[in-house]
Amino acid sequence: MVALRSTLRERHEKERERLGCSHGPGIPHTQQSLEADIPAEGRPGCPRRPLSRRSLWGLKMIKISASMPATYREMAPDELDQRIQHAKEILGERLLILGHHYQMDEVMKFADAAGDSFGLSRIAAERSDADLVVFCGVHFMAESADILTGPHQRVILPDLAAGCSMADMADIDQVEAAWSDLSQVVDTERVMPITYMNSTAAIKAFVGRHGGAVCTSSNARAVLEWAFANDETGRARSDKVLFFPDQHLGRNTALTMGYQASEMSLWDPAHKNGGLSEREMKESTFLLWKGHCSVHMRFTTEQIEEFRRTHEDALVVVHPECSQEVVGAADASGSTDFIIRYVEATAPGSSIGIGTEVHLVKRLADTYPDRTIVCLDSEVCPCVTMSRIDAPHLAWVLEEAVEGRIRNQITVEGDTQAWAKIALERMLAIT
Ligand code: 13P
Ligand code: SF4
Repeated sequence: MVALRSTLRERHEKERERLGCSHGPGIPHTQQSLEADIPAEGRPGCPRRPLSRRSLWGLKMIKISASMPATYREMAPDELDQRIQHAKEILGERLLILGHHYQMDEVMKFADAAGDSFGLSRIAAERSDADLVVFCGVHFMAESADILTGPHQRVILPDLAAGCSMADMADIDQVEAAWSDLSQVVDTERVMPITYMNSTAAIKAFVGRHGGAVCTSSNARAVLEWAFANDETGRARSDKVLFFPDQHLGRNTALTMGYQASEMSLWDPAHKNGGLSEREMKESTFLLWKGHCSVHMRFTTEQIEEFRRTHEDALVVVHPECSQEVVGAADASGSTDFIIRYVEATAPGSSIGIGTEVHLVKRLADTYPDRTIVCLDSEVCPCVTMSRIDAPHLAWVLEEAVEGRIRNQITVEGDTQAWAKIALERMLAIT
């Protein structure tokens, strides 16, 4: 384990070096346990399950949690590519590899479908023919895929340490406590809980149980409009929204809908009543959970000013996880898929500054060499948890699957699965 830890740390340092990252040493996020490949025991919504035998494709599949052998780490890129390709060919149509836009090229080139978190959840829900879904993204995305796929399908996250620090900022106990605090002051029947996709299955289940829905950065506005729209009885579904875990997506979306900052309050889970007065709890239309994405918090209005100063007719597009000020200073904001479409629509010769994860920005710059495409933060770090899914892990889980061994399966079960599915399906029905 000590050797594995140092190898991972070395690898992370190399990646930071390669991307010119000047963050402090080590891995800055909370969920980035160095113990890659160790099951996320106790992680809400992903209870550790006993070893089980399941039948897949007529084979006895054995679900085992174990570390990736060091040999994969030592393989040359060409060998890894050949092995991944070979395993893909053997697994054929039964295998579906999904890749989030933030994934590294070494993984993305093997994805059968690429997308933002909304697009990938939709594909997962539709592709019931695929018995094995290998999710190249982060934990909450793989959980959502497992919730939306059928019982005959297995979802694999190649490295279980690929979490999301934002999703960690709201845990189910804190959310239950917040709801209980709220119920002492307002009628929670009139409060709609809305959770960003970047949350645990346990939180999605909470939302489903309380009549709310999941949203992503591509449909947050539609979901919030639904929350305040009239239901079949002709009455508004709710008077107030509790939005978690990303305050910025909540605030930016509410502002686009025409709400004022004065109608929003920040709910700090570290304090009783979220640190709010009873009046604030009663009068706010939006209670925004105090969570954020560390990657998107690095973008500033100064970077945008500098980019505009140094590039003629500069265009700026950012992800809505950026602050209100950054989104306000940009020309456009939207999901990762939106950012790709925005860049696609620009004319050759354009200069585009982008405020999102650097692997996506790099891929766009490579795809459109006739445009100047740069990350707004020249020292930006990658989302290190997304970067945990690499060619060695992909090769390992695929070769194990060929041998009938399912590694790093993500499973959400029981009530959590049922209620989280309701919240996710509400989102799919709204958008
Ligand atoms: P998208 O839904 O836009 O892909 O965003 C997911 C995410 O985690 C952004 O940080
Ligand atoms: Fe989570 Fe931020 Fe990484 Fe997206 S970029 S997965 S929100 S830590």
